[in-house]
Amino acid sequence: MANRRDFLKQGALLAGAVAFTPNLAHSAAPLPINNTDDEAYWKLVREQFPLSKDRIFLNNGTLGPSPYGVIHEVQNDMLDVDTTGRYGGHDELAIEALAEFLNTKHTEISLTRNVTEGINIACWGLPLTKGDEVIMTNHEHVGHAVPWLNRAKLDGVVITVINLGKTADETLTNIKNAITKKTKVISVPHIPCTIGQILPVKAICELAKQNNIWSIIDGAHPPGMLVTDLKDLGCDVYISCCHKWMCGPKGTGFLYVSEAKRNQIQAYYGGGGVDTGWDMLSKPPILNGYAENGHRYFYGTQNYSMFKGITKAIEFQNQIGKAFIEKRVRALATYLQENLIKLSSNLEMLTPTEAISRGAQVSFKIKDREMTKLQIHCNEQHITTRYVAENNINCLRISTHIYNNQTEIDAFLTAVDKFIRL
Ligand SMILES: Cc1ncc(COP(=O)(O)O)c(C=O)c1O
Repeated sequence: MANRRDFLKQGALLAGAVAFTPNLAHSAAPLPINNTDDEAYWKLVREQFPLSKDRIFLNNGTLGPSPYGVIHEVQNDMLDVDTTGRYGGHDELAIEALAEFLNTKHTEISLTRNVTEGINIACWGLPLTKGDEVIMTNHEHVGHAVPWLNRAKLDGVVITVINLGKTADETLTNIKNAITKKTKVISVPHIPCTIGQILPVKAICELAKQNNIWSIIDGAHPPGMLVTDLKDLGCDVYISCCHKWMCGPKGTGFLYVSEAKRNQIQAYYGGGGVDTGWDMLSKPPILNGYAENGHRYFYGTQNYSMFKGITKAIEFQNQIGKAFIEKRVRALATYLQENLIKLSSNLEMLTPTEAISRGAQVSFKIKDREMTKLQIHCNEQHITTRYVAENNINCLRISTHIYNNQTEIDAFLTAVDKFIRL
């Protein structure tokens, strides 16, 4: 079995071999106000991205390329900061924009650098003691698994691993069956990094509430892919990033902590923004308390320009329309899945075919074939994919976002077909 770290090294070498000349001087013509679900409109959307035209990029699940508008916003603001010496502090506008985008209160949003950071804040802040049980899945990403494994190692919490089901109901049942008197947390992905399956998060959070259990959702993928309504989902904590499906600046993310639970999640990192007052001159020196909003969990000097890029990315998404994006990216993935299944009886489709469980990522493997080889084969045809080594799954994951189209998917299908026949 190939080691993912070795494979990433190999992938970097392969990627390094691709000639690439970014053209940031260029910017696209503005998108028309009215969106239309036809290829002419989606071609205009594609034009908004500097993404190389010599390559078919099917790995948005790892990193979402940004459109020109976002890149220029970040560039211009960085230039302004370095021209004027302006101290940006935090970006309240990005917090407001995220809150509206996710249908929640701005006081419930903290800005982070990535999903992993948000997971660590929640994982370490929860009031747990030795022997408390945490339910997770057999499809975790390192950024979700390792914080919890670390807490298990240092604090003695016990991790119970459930299998993902082939359907949403089966997954829910597996979680239900794993609950014991000691279960304190359900911490699961909304969409795992492995096979792109959408978990029934609303039902999982409801189940958690009924059993007085914390619901912590690793939401790395849904914002920007699916309409994500945090009020409706009802989780205690939701963690995501802006650098995947939202196509925002890289190294930006957010943590949602419901207002009702804020006072129970301890802030372990202190610093500018976290406190409600402190005094080093009183005897003894004191910390008054913690901010009554998301600032409780982020602190110090931040990259204000990057956060300005989040607002721009949300503007871009809103201009196209969240529901419209969801419909498009799901339609592309459905087309891909249906046609992959037709290619060969040796092709094992890992992403559920059940519509409610299928988003914009499709993962599969081919009987008795090493999927790293398929990734290399695709790379030779200038197609970028994601090999999944996590949890020994050994499959290929394909992401379809708004800049992709059916012609690109057809090219990928041809590449897979050729590989099967080798
Ligand atoms: C499901 C899932 N969780 C967590 C992460 C970690 O994200 P980040 O690199 O932003 O910390 C990823 C990244 O791919 C992911 O897919």
